[in-house]
This record gives sequence, C-alpha cells and structure tokens, in this order.
Amino acid sequence: MTIAYLNGMFLPLEQARISPMDRGFLFGDGIYEVIPWYNGRPVGFQRHMQRLEQGLAAISLENPMTIEAWRTLFDELTEKNDGEYQGVYLQVTRGAAAVRNHRFPTDCEPTIFAYTFTVNAPSDGDPDHATCYQVATATDRRWKRCDIKSVALLGNVLHMMEGVDAGADEIILFNEQEELTEAAACNVFIVHNGTVVTPSLDIEKLPGITRNMLVDILRAEGWNVEERAVTRAEVMAADELWLTSSTKEIAPVIAIDGYSVNDGKPGPVWTAAQSLFARHRFSA
Ligand code: PDD
Repeated sequence: MTIAYLNGMFLPLEQARISPMDRGFLFGDGIYEVIPWYNGRPVGFQRHMQRLEQGLAAISLENPMTIEAWRTLFDELTEKNDGEYQGVYLQVTRGAAAVRNHRFPTDCEPTIFAYTFTVNAPSDGDPDHATCYQVATATDRRWKRCDIKSVALLGNVLHMMEGVDAGADEIILFNEQEELTEAAACNVFIVHNGTVVTPSLDIEKLPGITRNMLVDILRAEGWNVEERAVTRAEVMAADELWLTSSTKEIAPVIAIDGYSVNDGKPGPVWTAAQSLFARHRFSA
C-alpha cells in the first residue's frame, strides 16, 4: 500500500481526495518535482528544491514550506513507504477556489500532494544491465515556457504518444530551426568524436537536475562538455545519444527513427559517464 501526503495528512494513496475545483485539475495551475530517493538518501535534493522555488516564483505562487520542512516531510514519507529505490513525486497547485475564473483567486490555499513510487535500481554503468531506449523524432509543438516544471503536461503527453505510436519508447524534439530541444520527459545529450554535447538551457527546455548534475560531475572530472545549439544532423550522426532524467539517470539510446546508434549498444562514453554519475550522485 502506498502512503501519500495531502495537505498536512499522511493517508493511503487510494483514499486521497482533492476538489474538482482544484486549479491543478481545471487549469494545470501548479508545479511538480520528481526526486530520486535511494535507501533513505535523496539525489540532488538542494537542486530540486531550488528548481521548485523558481517554478513557484514563475507562476507567482509562494512556496508553502521551508526546505527543512520539505525534507522532514519526504524523510517521513519515504520511511512510511516500502522500497530501497523510490521516486518522490511532489505537486503544489494554487488550490481550489469557489468559482472557476482564469484570474488568480484570493480565497484559497495551495494544495500540497506527495507520494512515492518505485524506480529501477540505478545503474553503475554496466552496459549488460542498462535500460536502453529507442526513440522517434518530431517537431516540438509545446508551449514557450518549457523551463517551468508545470503540471500542464498535455503537450509532452501527446509527443510521448507520438513516439509510442511510432513503436519507440521516447521522442526527441526539435524546434522550428531543426535544433534539438529535449525529449517528452528527459533531457538529451550527444557524444561526437568523444565530446559530450547538450543543448544550452532556455525557455524551450526544462533545466533538468540530472542534466545539470551530469554536466557538473563530468566537468569536475576534467571532461570537456559543450552546452550549445545542437542540430538535427548532429543528432542523427551522433556516436552516442543519451537521455537523462531523475527516474532514468543517464539512459543510452540505441536507435533513432529505426536507425541504430552505436551498433545498437550502450557506448563506451556512456559507461564512463554513468559510472562517474554513480560515484558522485549523492554529493553533486
Ligand atoms: N521528467 N525534460 C522534461 C520535459 C521532463 O519531464 C524531465 C523529467 C526532464 C529531466 O529532468 P530531471 O533530470 O530534473 O528529472 C527533462 C520527470 C522525471 C517526470 O515528469 O516524471
């Protein structure tokens, strides 16, 4: 049984109820986070809290809790739930107003919801135990504030289904200039001639915590990591292609639009990068 947290109470997930007037439900008016929690230890906790703060500020919603209070809540929540490898899902919406009106209401408190789910045991970089991905590609049709971790994910959901309908596990998106943005639920890296490259951050991409940790970890190890515009041609010709997210860490892509990447196997640079990530995931 999964234990959830809703507005000050721990309760079985299936008993958690919110109002249909909740603005998260009516408008997608809320912010969320997904934080990996392995054996009682979070990965990138301060970074996730900082992004939560920025996301809430971007939609003019005050953070309802201090970082210390969030930490206490998640420590308790992960203890109440089984599993060595958990993901903490947290969502803050503007709450349930009496009437539906696009304007921000003044008569409601934010809704705070969290629960945990099981994530795969993280990889140490062993290619034999890697979860590999096949991806499709499409033009990015989402809104112009993809830097906000909003719960309004319909654009991402439709892109994900476009990938699934094409027989893939994820979908890599390009803007109108044919430059790489991100995937439906991940950031993207390429490896070209031994150099690791990922698109620069702007309003077209989520500032992924895994992405940022990986860039920092690799640079601290002396790697040259480029953050710049990446063209579709570079992606299609990449020696290696990776997806990053809190639930996948660094995942090798082995096929794009039906074409093999690195002979359909995780590449040597992935092995090195994921091993370093594993070594530093609790300190970066
Ligand atoms: N997704 N880009 C998008 C659009 C995402 O939804 C995610 C994460 C990422 C990677 O961000 P991070 O490294 O901080 O997880 C990039 C989460 C896991 C989800 O929606 O379940």
